[in-house]
Amino acid sequence: MTTGRDLPSIAVLGSINMDLVTTTEHRPRPGATVRGTGFATVPGGKGANQAVAAARAGARVDFVGAVGDDVFAPALRATLTEAGIGIGHLRTEPGPSGVATIVVDGDGENSIIVVGGANAALTELGAADLAVIAAADILLCQLEIPLDTVAAGIAHAAAHATTVVLNPSPVAALPAEVWADVDVAVVNSGEARELGAALAGVAHVVTTLGGDGARYRGPDGLVIARPSFRVEVVDTTGAGDSFTGALAAAWHRGPEAALEYACAAGALATTTLGASRSIPTAAAIDSLLGRS
Ligand code: RIB
Repeated sequence: MTTGRDLPSIAVLGSINMDLVTTTEHRPRPGATVRGTGFATVPGGKGANQAVAAARAGARVDFVGAVGDDVFAPALRATLTEAGIGIGHLRTEPGPSGVATIVVDGDGENSIIVVGGANAALTELGAADLAVIAAADILLCQLEIPLDTVAAGIAHAAAHATTVVLNPSPVAALPAEVWADVDVAVVNSGEARELGAALAGVAHVVTTLGGDGARYRGPDGLVIARPSFRVEVVDTTGAGDSFTGALAAAWHRGPEAALEYACAAGALATTTLGASRSIPTAAAIDSLLGRS
């Protein structure tokens, strides 16, 4: 059920982290110490980033996830509410929130270590969580929360004709019955290689190719390739999340339009340091596409 021409409703079931971002010219090799050029705490997490991306791209978004009861929780919650995302299904777990230690080098490339914290405690979905998934046009998931919870959300979505968009990242093995309920998979080229045959049965597969753009493969073998937009890259962290959230928000316009929209969002996300800070609005995306 689409709620308006450009206002799909999206339930995001996923992670939310505080990103501890250090910039440096060259990332250290094992055993080496290098000088950093800056440090920032920036709300992130693949689930939250994709929720913010979908909301800024114009979707109505509810977030199902968990923060801790630590010093980071208020800022994490605020990131969602400031984007207009419903947080009625964001629970607070005792203990730390999820954190990601991120090193960004002079080329804008990153290394990330994620510690699950409260995300790991999201082991069950309640009746209200399931109801928001059933009522949404799209369920958008990643794999930074317990896989059984993702599987339960996807099964419930499929049973209620909610379109399932899965970004299987960080990549993990999922049972065949979970893949059978996935309508759209969004992967990078490394994930595509690792998942191999699991993706063959998914109707719509979108593969991000970094500087080479993105590629869509549809149910009848239709392939659409889209080159990347040329931008000045500062930090690639969260670019895939911006791409995926924007793709979900634009999915009702059809794969070709959604792919172009997502590529513009992903490119813009690389131009600013920090995942959630860099996620573009619909106006910025439209401007890059020459529509404003
Ligand atoms: O995809 C980028 C995200 O991965 C970061 O925001 C970090 O929190 C990790 O989840």
